[in-house]
Amino acid sequence: MSALRQSPAWRALAAHREQFAGTQVRDLFTADPDRASRLSLEFGELFLDYSRNLVTPDTMRLLAALADQARVADWIRRMFSGEPINNTENQPALHVALRSDRAQFPDRGDVLPKVREVLSRMRVIVDQVRSGALRGSTGKPVRSVVNLGIGGSDLGPRMLTRALRTYCVGGPQVRFVANADPSDLEAVLHELDPETTLFIVASKSFTTEETLDNARRARAWLAESLPRDAAPQAHFFAVTAYVDRAREFGIAIERILPIWEWVGGRFSVWSAVGLPVALAMGMDRFDALLKGARDMDAHFHTAPLERNMPVIMALLSVWYTNFWDAQTQAVIPYSEDLRELPAYLQQLEMESNGKHVDRDGREVDYPTAPVVWGASGTSSQHSFHQLLHQGTHLVPVDFIIAAAGTGTDVLAANAIAQSAALMSGRSVHGAPHRTHPGNRPSSVIVLERLSPEALGQLLSLYEHKVFVEGVIWNINSFDQWGVELGKTLARELLPAFRGEASPDSDPATRALIERIRRLRAN
Ligand code: F6P
Repeated sequence: MSALRQSPAWRALAAHREQFAGTQVRDLFTADPDRASRLSLEFGELFLDYSRNLVTPDTMRLLAALADQARVADWIRRMFSGEPINNTENQPALHVALRSDRAQFPDRGDVLPKVREVLSRMRVIVDQVRSGALRGSTGKPVRSVVNLGIGGSDLGPRMLTRALRTYCVGGPQVRFVANADPSDLEAVLHELDPETTLFIVASKSFTTEETLDNARRARAWLAESLPRDAAPQAHFFAVTAYVDRAREFGIAIERILPIWEWVGGRFSVWSAVGLPVALAMGMDRFDALLKGARDMDAHFHTAPLERNMPVIMALLSVWYTNFWDAQTQAVIPYSEDLRELPAYLQQLEMESNGKHVDRDGREVDYPTAPVVWGASGTSSQHSFHQLLHQGTHLVPVDFIIAAAGTGTDVLAANAIAQSAALMSGRSVHGAPHRTHPGNRPSSVIVLERLSPEALGQLLSLYEHKVFVEGVIWNINSFDQWGVELGKTLARELLPAFRGEASPDSDPATRALIERIRRLRAN
């Protein structure tokens, strides 16, 4: 049995879980009229109400003891100092440096000059594009930007340009293409004028085949559709940690914005990966996004654990994952502009903590990252809320509401009602099929509005929540070795689709390839 499961804090929580059986959260409210205010936190533009969770003050005390035992405060210090806490790649995890306003990374050296240099280059590019000064190969201003990237080089900017839609005015229309499926790019290109289109090839490694394939197709589209003497290079920028690879592709050095190995892809939206967001809403608003994240970083770095928003959210996640056998967690933003947030959090949470060995390479004997899923409300109520209310699974939910702005009372009323119904339930005598069991946990995060600053705070909140979960599970949240095998096997199988020899595959694989080849031949 692992040291973690044998540890005093873990065993105390396991015993507490036994005692918790039969406790109804609604009774806890009756017993403590101040429960809602006692179990809520406010920071910046965010308010977290976690009072409808399956916790008592004792639970929170025992969870805080687990954080102390895992030396969470020390790990926070180590991350901010730039220690190589990404131990399998011997790298720091310094996404906080991308939005920092002062050097504080003694174990990494002062990275701020590089960060600031890239931010100032971004500002120049953004101002030139938004003012019309930067022109394409035929002298026309940029009207459309297409970001070619995938995973962390796509999900963050894609989500933010939608979440901050009302701020994305006065600049180019920004679109995102990620998939290897040519239809993803084709669906975008047929609407665009090549003379006024700018492509951003966003790839930290500059080896991701989906992105390079799309970049080659985009370049071919420009070559075919621009006037013969026009230079397609004028329509490209690149964002990468491998400048030479981007130059080999044919992108001019002055069009390449660097990112760094000490920033994980899923933590990179604050870097030049965020260029599409800055182009869409202007650099001042991008700076506001960075400020929001910076402020949440300061809260995370300094707040006592029991009043630390990311820590509290991480401890609730560990409580359900490891003591209530909750294998999934749902994020339901009651805002259509936040509809891409669940997909962004899927990579952030599941690529960070979907691990089966601990920092020392030992197989863990406890669950790590839950499956994260979700969709925007109120649409989600007409899709999967039946399971949330009457299913056999315990699914903790984060409801997210934007109080002001485009949201309406209907949205807020539905979000709050769903959280209340999950907790209170309702018995219908003689009609068990209509009974809502209740006692199903949820937290409610209220943003003042969908502003760049609030979004910066929200994303930083979830980044640090994921980090604290990893600390408690004693895993490295900053590598992603699990994505390599699939890529390798796909490369090996490709020749077989062309009828050429490929390494011996299992019978099911061979049969599937033959079927697809046959269907293609018809
Ligand atoms: O999914 C694997 C992964 O490496 C992610 O971590 C990353 O965000 C994505 O692929 C894209 O990688 P790159 O930015 O190097 O193209």
